[in-house]
Amino acid sequence: MGLLFINACYREGSRTRRLAEHFVNQYQGDVKEICIGDLEVCALDRKHLEIYNKAVREHTFTDPMFGYAKEFGEADEILIAAPFWNYSIPAALHAYLELVCTQGITFDIQADGQYVSMCRGKKLTYVTTAGGYIPEEDHGFGYIKSLAEIFWNIQDVRYYKAEGLDIVGADVEGALRQALKTSGTDIISGAAETTAGV
Ligand SMILES: Cc1cc2nc3c(=O)[nH]c(=O)nc-3n(C[C@H](O)[C@H](O)[C@H](O)COP(=O)(O)O)c2cc1C
Repeated sequence: MGLLFINACYREGSRTRRLAEHFVNQYQGDVKEICIGDLEVCALDRKHLEIYNKAVREHTFTDPMFGYAKEFGEADEILIAAPFWNYSIPAALHAYLELVCTQGITFDIQADGQYVSMCRGKKLTYVTTAGGYIPEEDHGFGYIKSLAEIFWNIQDVRYYKAEGLDIVGADVEGALRQALKTSGTDIISGAAETTAGV
């Protein structure tokens, strides 16, 4: 399928989106974009949880709500872009990922309790920007990284972030360029060479 671009930066003039475009433009192959801001994704409320649990039990995933997980499982590579909101990720992205994490579509659990990935992709890039500074205990990237490594067995997880963008006097353009320049150095597993193009 190529690159699945999960775009959760839908604010007009989004800086996160500008970072993400760098990776979209670099990708050689088909790109499918999902705009999280336009989806009517429901969190797993009572009604949808019943559908979800029944489907997982019976291994029958006919409800349209499972379309996101199926699409995710077929992607060769994943790009997620989201602003840092309330020390985490936007709720709409969380609701979407809740559906992507459907046991029997994107991962399964073996008899010995081990997770086994059902995803084709082996690389995931996460891009974010923050108005202030992201603490060491990073609930945005930390959450994405856990899902990638544990459920989907994606070990090549890369992280690009630009921080302090809403601080008075911030050099926003410089921070965006720096986010791409410093890629692969700190919490990114698997160093990546990029040239800034924001
Ligand atoms: C709902 C909401 C919650 C936010 N929460 C945080 C936060 O917890 N920490 C922070 O540093 N900035 C926070 N911000 C600021 C954004 O992280 C910052 O403006 C970011 O660059 C927005 O990305 P964008 O330009 O792609 O929309 C928040 C902004 C919004 C709208």
